[in-house]
Amino acid sequence: MANLPDAAPLPVGHADNPHTWSDYYDLMQGRPPRETLLRSLSLFDAEAETAGLERFTGFAVDIGCGEGRDTAELVRRGWRVLAMDGEPEAIARLQSRPELQAAIAQNLLETREQRFEELILPENLDLINASFCLPFCPPDEFPALWQTLTHALRPGGRMSGQLFGDRDSWAAYDRMTHHTRAQVEALLQPFTIEMLEEEAHPGKTATGEDKFWHIFHWVIRK
Ligand SMILES: C[S@@+](CC[C@H](N)C(=O)[O-])C[C@H]1O[C@@H](n2cnc3c(N)ncnc32)[C@H](O)[C@@H]1O
Repeated sequence: MANLPDAAPLPVGHADNPHTWSDYYDLMQGRPPRETLLRSLSLFDAEAETAGLERFTGFAVDIGCGEGRDTAELVRRGWRVLAMDGEPEAIARLQSRPELQAAIAQNLLETREQRFEELILPENLDLINASFCLPFCPPDEFPALWQTLTHALRPGGRMSGQLFGDRDSWAAYDRMTHHTRAQVEALLQPFTIEMLEEEAHPGKTATGEDKFWHIFHWVIRK
């Protein structure tokens, strides 16, 4: 393990962290969809309205979907969804959500247990949603992951999500990926940046440890 400042709490998913992804999923139960997903969906709907349609419904991949707070919103709005996560428990929890049963039965919602390091995506996606998951990709795998994601979007498609900044407490861990603002801007620059917000402040992890958060929230259009 890298040299860690005493103050850095262990990331969820770290082998030495007594809190597991299972604890995290428990804590996320009943939480609303992420703001970045909602922004992305409102931008699609605004385009649809301009074209005289009531709303846009397309095909989305929700990567690092967790227990499904964002997938549930996509399904509720009539999107077809492929939800993916590296943790079997995330997929099992998502599949057992009562409000998703009809979509599963009608093949409007598919799930796949897959890690970022082996990610294979369908082509021509309308939306890739990547809420609070990309920083958990190991740094040496991140460039290939970003290439896979951006390649899979159709022209006019969107991606929404978060990257963690270099001042985030978890930047101390060499198996997580963090970016400076300049690096975030360079990643997003080939696309139309429809939202880019940075937050940096002391706070707590979902499981209650003190942590400095440095987060970039973004929506891009290809
Ligand atoms: C912080 S949770 C976010 C879950 C959900 N998207 C949300 O916004 O609440 C990160 C998710 O990424 C998944 N994850 C972490 N590392 C991964 C990897 N290498 N490959 C695939 N999924 C991974 C975890 O299993 C977890 O469900």
